[in-house]
Amino acid sequence: MEFSVKSGSPEKQRSACIVVGVYEPRRLSPVAEQLDQISEGYISNLLRRGDLEGKPGQVLLLHHVPNVLSERVLLVGCGKERELNERQYRQIIKKTIDTLNETGSMESVCFLTEMHVKGRDTYWKVRQAVEATMHSLYSFNQLKSKKDEARRPLRKLVFNVPTRRELALGESAIEHSLAISNGSKMCRDVANMPPNICNPAYLADQGKTLEEFDNVSVSTVGEKEMAELGMNSYLAVGRGSDNESIMTIIDYKGGNEGDAPIVLVGKGLTFDSGGISIKPSAQMDEMKYDMGGAAGVLGAMRSLVELGLPLNVVGILAGCENMPSSNAYRPGDVLTTMSGKTVEVLNTDAEGRLVLCDALTYVERYDPELVIDVATLTGACVVALGKHATGLLSSHNPLAHELLNASEQSGDRAWRLPLWDEYQDQLESPFADFTNLGGRDAGTITAACFLSRFTKKYNWAHLDIAGTAWVSGGPNKGATGRPVPMLTQFLMNRAGIAVEQ
Ligand code: BES
Ligand code: MN
Ligand code: ZN
Repeated sequence: MEFSVKSGSPEKQRSACIVVGVYEPRRLSPVAEQLDQISEGYISNLLRRGDLEGKPGQVLLLHHVPNVLSERVLLVGCGKERELNERQYRQIIKKTIDTLNETGSMESVCFLTEMHVKGRDTYWKVRQAVEATMHSLYSFNQLKSKKDEARRPLRKLVFNVPTRRELALGESAIEHSLAISNGSKMCRDVANMPPNICNPAYLADQGKTLEEFDNVSVSTVGEKEMAELGMNSYLAVGRGSDNESIMTIIDYKGGNEGDAPIVLVGKGLTFDSGGISIKPSAQMDEMKYDMGGAAGVLGAMRSLVELGLPLNVVGILAGCENMPSSNAYRPGDVLTTMSGKTVEVLNTDAEGRLVLCDALTYVERYDPELVIDVATLTGACVVALGKHATGLLSSHNPLAHELLNASEQSGDRAWRLPLWDEYQDQLESPFADFTNLGGRDAGTITAACFLSRFTKKYNWAHLDIAGTAWVSGGPNKGATGRPVPMLTQFLMNRAGIAVEQ
């Protein structure tokens, strides 16, 4: 897919399709107005007859509009003028892309980037349009024996910006959004891959593909080395599986030598059956997405290296599989973590924190600038925030604010939950330093409390993506690519290349 920006008037475009907005009720946008004038009222006549009201997402495809050079004109409803919000804007772009793809317009000039979206500039509108387009054109069909593809798919999209002055903004928006989209795609591809293919070794292979970029080196820590390092908690979770636990380390050195790295740690449970505390069968297949944190870290690393940001960043994919077996760890076991702290296992399905705690201790060796872990950690987070917001917990206020900022800028939203000491009491154990289970109340918070006990040596934030990493069931089932946009935006801000929005 090819994107570009230009600044021109609609009647001069010679394209398979030009896309213009119509406001509700039946009101032409300035661009649609221009087309209406040269077509001698053709469009306003249609609207008057009631063919299009202008509600958000409504579309009307016109052929051979008089005096218009383009073959087609696609009118897209944008709702009431001045009320167009970010969510509607993205939905309108998605609807436009689906329509263009179905109607055989292989190239198109889109004027929707000229619509007024509250509080957002051209950079934002172009960036969101590219990301929404790439998101919408994504399909995972590698494993279908017959691929069903559009006959004349959309190949080229030109976004029009109001003035020539804004061309440069639009161009950097395209560059940034393509890097983010490529990261999201990589995230979605590995996350959608079934668990008989995507195991910890597969995650490692995917990590290694980033070595084709400059300044990237990838290494792995297998079970033997984990045992030497005392990562007994991580090892315990994987012990019931025939697939070896493998921690993949992607090291990107784009910054100054000696600058402390930013470390991203992703939960990579390539399948979480629950282990001996086995899960109910309904939708258990979706626990292939329990490596969504690792996929998110991989995707963010991909975006980062493609942008070549001047930062040192280490991405960790904590690959593991949680299975029941005669060799599996059990409820009641007491594990000695790499930190030396002991944990009483009360539920083998609270395994993510047991893998992450050792990975979080492992990364102390980098003396990091900050650490962010990303995990499909708790069902409780889906109950609290649903599928719209990622849960954010952090013991460091400035880092939490930076992440919230990045989430608002990128449209990949997060919402903060508290991490107060009061909640820590729920982890008390009579037999070990603490347990891996905090009880029914505040499950997302107590899981983060557990992790916080292993992150005292650096600034740390935790992202619970249980609700946002994939769409559950139904026709749209599949990985979302989140939180790649948020993480990449965070890194872009850190690198100081953010464009004002
Ligand atoms: N991977 C799950 C969390 C999860 C469940 C994410 C459903 C998305 C959808 C995690 O390993 C888990 O099983 N957590 C338990 C923790 C509990 C045993 C304390 C949960 O949330 O039920
Ligand atoms: Mn689990
Ligand atoms: Zn899990």
